[in-house]
Amino acid sequence: MGDDRVFSVSLNGGNKATDLGGNGKTAHRHTGVVDIFRPLLCSILILIPLTCSVLAYLTARGQPDLPSFKSLASRALDQSSSFLDVFQVSPPVLSPAESGCAQTLMVHSFAFSYGQPFVGEYTPPSCDFNRVTFNLTVTSAGRQFDRLALMYFNDTEIFRTSTAEPTSAGIRWTYLKDMTNYLVLFKEPQKIIFDLGNLIDSTYTAAFNTTLTANFFVEEEAMAPADVIFPISARQSASNGPSAFSVPAQNATNTLTLPQNIRKAVFSISACGQSAEEFWWSNVLSSDTLSFPDIGALYGYSPFRELQLYIDGMLAGVAWPFPVIFTGGVVPGFWRPVVGIDAFDLREDEIDISPFLPLLCDGKEHTFEIRVAGLDDDGNGHVTFTETVGSYWIVTGKVFLWLDASDWITTGSDLVSVVPDPALRLSSSVQALANGTNTTLSYSVEVQRHLSFTSTILTSQGPSISSWQQVLTYSNSGNFSDKGNVQATDQKTNGFDISSNGYSRVYGYPLWVYSAFATFPDGNFSIAANMDRSKNLQVIGQLAFPSSLRTFNSSGLAKLNFAAFPGTSSNNRQNGTATYLAAPSQSKSYSWGSTEQDLFFAGVEGSVSTIQSGAPTIKGSIELYHRHVLATNGTIVEDEETLVGQTFSNSYPPLTGDEQSFARLDIKSILGRGPA
Ligand SMILES: *[C@@H]1O[C@H](CO)[C@@H](O)[C@H](O)[C@H]1NC(C)=O
Ligand SMILES: *[C@@H]1O[C@H](CO)[C@@H](O)[C@H](O)[C@H]1NC(C)=O
Ligand SMILES: *[C@@H]1O[C@H](CO)[C@@H](O)[C@H](O)[C@H]1NC(C)=O
Ligand SMILES: *[C@@H]1O[C@H](CO)[C@@H](O)[C@H](O)[C@H]1NC(C)=O
Ligand SMILES: *[C@@H]1O[C@H](CO)[C@@H](O)[C@H](O)[C@H]1NC(C)=O
Ligand SMILES: *[C@@H]1O[C@H](CO)[C@@H](O)[C@H](O)[C@H]1NC(C)=O
Ligand SMILES: *[C@@H]1O[C@H](CO)[C@@H](O)[C@H](O)[C@H]1NC(C)=O
Ligand SMILES: *[C@@H]1O[C@H](CO)[C@@H](O)[C@H](O)[C@H]1NC(C)=O
Ligand SMILES: *[C@@H]1O[C@H](CO)[C@@H](O)[C@H](O)[C@H]1NC(C)=O
Ligand SMILES: *[C@@H]1O[C@H](CO)[C@@H](O)[C@H](O)[C@H]1NC(C)=O
Ligand SMILES: *[C@@H]1O[C@H](CO)[C@@H](O)[C@H](O)[C@H]1NC(C)=O
Repeated sequence: MGDDRVFSVSLNGGNKATDLGGNGKTAHRHTGVVDIFRPLLCSILILIPLTCSVLAYLTARGQPDLPSFKSLASRALDQSSSFLDVFQVSPPVLSPAESGCAQTLMVHSFAFSYGQPFVGEYTPPSCDFNRVTFNLTVTSAGRQFDRLALMYFNDTEIFRTSTAEPTSAGIRWTYLKDMTNYLVLFKEPQKIIFDLGNLIDSTYTAAFNTTLTANFFVEEEAMAPADVIFPISARQSASNGPSAFSVPAQNATNTLTLPQNIRKAVFSISACGQSAEEFWWSNVLSSDTLSFPDIGALYGYSPFRELQLYIDGMLAGVAWPFPVIFTGGVVPGFWRPVVGIDAFDLREDEIDISPFLPLLCDGKEHTFEIRVAGLDDDGNGHVTFTETVGSYWIVTGKVFLWLDASDWITTGSDLVSVVPDPALRLSSSVQALANGTNTTLSYSVEVQRHLSFTSTILTSQGPSISSWQQVLTYSNSGNFSDKGNVQATDQKTNGFDISSNGYSRVYGYPLWVYSAFATFPDGNFSIAANMDRSKNLQVIGQLAFPSSLRTFNSSGLAKLNFAAFPGTSSNNRQNGTATYLAAPSQSKSYSWGSTEQDLFFAGVEGSVSTIQSGAPTIKGSIELYHRHVLATNGTIVEDEETLVGQTFSNSYPPLTGDEQSFARLDIKSILGRGPA
């Protein structure tokens, strides 16, 4: 039972948050983000459609910049090469080509690179800069799996990405990323460790050839990045090793003594599941893992995961992860040439730990631990959060600090933590034939929780109330049929975070996946799937990572008026149908199908709520960017972009022939269940 006064919202009354601009709804996708907590909260949300006042929000810069307009349109197309351009649909990133201050950080071919990260040195450039962007450009040709890559400066993870599967004629991609939140690290020399573990043999022939450049430039709009960043990591850079923890095998804990003059502190968690945890959202209740012995044990701990931060053993905040799907996942044909949401940029979750400052500024040691929790059940309705999950999650964290005057010591009142037990509801049932063989399994998991951390902190600016609040709801209902060969998953993750540092984030990650596999006597196997997934966000202000409004490149069509746009809303949806066929006797596998993606990105008006007023509200929104892409059988058949009101279409070169050929894994590695 919670202290309901804190949020003026009851999570215990059976209310269920609806979809955050959910699957299958095409109308109002970039305002739908606001609607979700309407049934949950009593606050009145006002949406004012702003159709004719674009100019009040965008200060025109005179003539549209036609050359850059054209280069944007040709971004995904280079006729001079036969490489297939693969890409992640994302808003364009501010990174002036003419900045004149760029540095190549890495040119490296990751061939047999397992356990052999690239190691290099970074030396700050001599130019002035308050912004940094990365350009990671990769080429690959041959046959290869998707691979995960983590990049570090010394012991601190600064970028997590994954690769697309190559074709024999070759693929290429460029991903631009704003790195300004690490500005303080870019001002000092660093050891670069880029860990992209790849394996080469007679069948899996492709290397990943990478070029990483950093672009340094000055923007009038300062971003106020952190003054100090501490890693929570395995700290292996002295021996040229990557510093991620593998959880649960390792305990992801570091002990730190922080400076005493902190005025703001934010914790970020970088984490993704691999192996038994790659498809965590399709895992079953621990009591159901042996439902279909013929296809092997299913992965357990339920399809629910929570990333937890503990400070000195006290829960300090949580993150419910976005279900990333890598390019080899479910059916590989979904993800070529458009990769899954976030596949090239696995985003971190942020927790404002400023309410802990009176404790953290005492000059003593404090432990920071990241845990990954699932659910354990005994099959009789008893369910608990776990302290462990399957193997494994790749985890690091960071503490971002903003400092007060050097002679200041931050103090304050004791922390008030309101962390009621989560509300949990689980059910499952199996149906069996008369002879006992199970044919179907249905299950449902619901989790709701809210957390609140408050203290009064005394900085050199005087006393202020510092708070971090989270409200989260999760549901997953799924079923297996055809003796486990078919699985349907319908998962919804919704929530909002509010920080007293002028920040709020409302999110929704609906995921629907249907997959069916079949095996044939000659060893062939097939997987057929449908999916519909979204990542919907409404963010006001920023914590440690830059607001996507500050990093948005309007291509000179307009200058954004940040005062009018305190926040952004983005609705990013992918849906499609695809099939995979493997013929092991011929060492061949094929995948084909269609994937459609719509990304709406808008600037929003609004302000961050106070503790009392509940969910963040917005008053209106203006579309800044929209991209609609339809890919079929490895090629783009529709691609339309609208940038600050101007629409244009991208065209693509003809097929090279093997866009439908993919690397072959066993069913279990692709799908998370079935024969290995
Ligand atoms: C914006 O994007 C265009 C097209 O990609 C590019 O030419 C231009 O340099 C970019 N401008 C800035 C400021 O990032
Ligand atoms: C990114 O880097 C690649 C290779 O280094 C280069 O060809 C490309 O023009 C760069 N793109 C941008 C937008 O800077
Ligand atoms: C990658 O680099 C290797 C080694 O330099 C080279 O042999 C190969 O052709 C390159 N592949 C691609 C796709 O660029
Ligand atoms: C990071 O590594 C660089 C280069 O190895 C070294 O000069 C620097 O002192 C290190 N920084 C920290 C904070 O350890
Ligand atoms: C990790 O280590 C810390 C400190 O030694 C301990 O308090 C904590 O219980 C451990 N966590 C797990 C999951 O074992
Ligand atoms: C049927 O499923 C239940 C629940 O997972 C399991 O306990 C039981 O062993 C299964 N029966 C058979 C014959 O596989
Ligand atoms: C149970 O019956 C089904 C359908 O008749 C059959 O396919 C299966 O082999 C039987 N299983 C056992 C263990 O007898
Ligand atoms: C199986 O689950 C899916 C997704 O939740 C749902 O749409 C479907 O109705 C369910 N089927 C059965 C037979 O319960
Ligand atoms: C995606 O869903 C829409 C309905 O919202 C449908 O019209 C479209 O055909 C689907 N796209 C694909 C590739 O399945
Ligand atoms: C297995 O796949 C190969 C390649 O597509 C095909 O030639 C063969 O006929 C398939 N076998 C069956 C039983 O479908
Ligand atoms: C996609 O490929 C499949 C398998 O080769 C083929 O049956 C289908 O007709 C193709 N679709 C289109 C639109 O080309």
